[in-house]
Amino acid sequence: MINKITKGPTTALFPVPAVLVTSCLEGGEPDIITIAWTGTMNSNPPIVYISVRSRGRHSHHLIKKSGQFVINIPTAELVSVVDYCGNTSGKEVNKFKETGLTPVPASHVQVPLVAECPVNVECRVREVLSLGSHDVFIADVLAVHYDKDILDQRGQPDYERIKPFSYCPREYRLVGKKLGYYGYSRKEK
Ligand SMILES: Cc1cc2nc3c(=O)[nH]c(=O)nc-3n(C[C@H](O)[C@H](O)[C@H](O)COP(=O)(O)O)c2cc1C
Repeated sequence: MINKITKGPTTALFPVPAVLVTSCLEGGEPDIITIAWTGTMNSNPPIVYISVRSRGRHSHHLIKKSGQFVINIPTAELVSVVDYCGNTSGKEVNKFKETGLTPVPASHVQVPLVAECPVNVECRVREVLSLGSHDVFIADVLAVHYDKDILDQRGQPDYERIKPFSYCPREYRLVGKKLGYYGYSRKEK
């Protein structure tokens, strides 16, 4: 191949999301883990996944045992908190206390939402896929919560107000300016 350097197989994909996933056992202390390996798997019913290393992650234990978690989408203002929650373990610290984030009761699961995140997705695990280093928790979406002030007039998320960011291995990067909209290329022709 011309002008290409070929490397061995790695998890090369970027950009990927960086979200805060909350988990909790009934009556216990909640944990927050930063997750980059997450995504949508199905539209109807809505199904999402998170991929969590099975060794050493406190969250893995909580999610496996409870079968529940919440995906909280952070804004650019929360980037250092996202980095912190991805570099400390709930085995040693209570990340809600350490970060000052606010836990809010969810509507369908016993796991709290992160109030400071403008979008919160309540999930119930339907299947666990063990692939090697990581377990993939495939989950039904039970409810999605939006901060009122980040929705536009049509009730859709306004990305200018949310200021989402992505993770490109080793760096956090702001989602930049709008390049087009869904289907715009056909409309131009
Ligand atoms: C940007 C970023 C993305 C991460 N993505 C994942 C991931 O997708 N899966 C995973 O198991 N760990 C991931 N981690 C590592 C965990 O967040 C980290 O090990 C965390 O301390 C585990 O916390 P816990 O022990 O409280 O669950 C990521 C860390 C960072 C900083």
